[in-house]
Amino acid sequence: MSHYRISPSILSADFARLGEEVSNVIAAGADLIHFDVMDNHYVPNLTFGPMICSALKPYATVPIDVHLMVEPVDDLIQSFAKAGAGIITFHPEASKHVDRSLSLICDLSCQAGLVLNPATSVSVLENVLDRLDMVLLMSVNPGFGGQSFIQQTLVKIRQVRAMLDEYEAQSGRHIALEVDGGVKVDNIAEIAAAGADTFVAGSAIFGKPDYKAVIGQMREELSRV
Ligand code: DX5
Ligand code: ZN
Repeated sequence: MSHYRISPSILSADFARLGEEVSNVIAAGADLIHFDVMDNHYVPNLTFGPMICSALKPYATVPIDVHLMVEPVDDLIQSFAKAGAGIITFHPEASKHVDRSLSLICDLSCQAGLVLNPATSVSVLENVLDRLDMVLLMSVNPGFGGQSFIQQTLVKIRQVRAMLDEYEAQSGRHIALEVDGGVKVDNIAEIAAAGADTFVAGSAIFGKPDYKAVIGQMREELSRV
């Protein structure tokens, strides 16, 4: 079994048929369902909230990977935990007390993660590694699907990989490293080679008629890393 996980972003799914889209992409091999929450405040776009997450929960037989692009975060963390989130990640710039928000996620029995924008330094991770189950590196500026992968992210993935490997050697705790934005069949192998193990893909999967074929091609690429 490969340790790589694919997390299709339903931001690019057909919003009029979301339950069916979630079922179909899981049948096609999704390991997680990436749920992009945008508030038209932290990012210039507006998507869906906890009620939609709750409604999709019966269709989601894999964990829901909630990516909060909202400010502030604490109230919505509670709502999404109640709505069935498995993983909740947020941007450190959007919380006044990052350590407290991470603890809150953990207390609600969800996995916790921080999301770093392209210009955010990896130093924000240093003092909270014990609280993290996942680091999510943005390879586009958050707010929209269908943007191009920012190549500089590869350098950052290597940097965070080294940090997480060192932490795992000391603590025995594994922290997942997820990459979000512009991930395609063509570049997934190079992103994995840099050190990522979890891959968000929105337009690359939902933009094609055959989800199983795309996820299969991604796994084929990953098997060669
Ligand atoms: C962007 C979102 C991404 C987005 C990825 O703010 O966080 O999850 O849906 O979409 P693609 O894969 O199309 O770049
Ligand atoms: Zn996302």
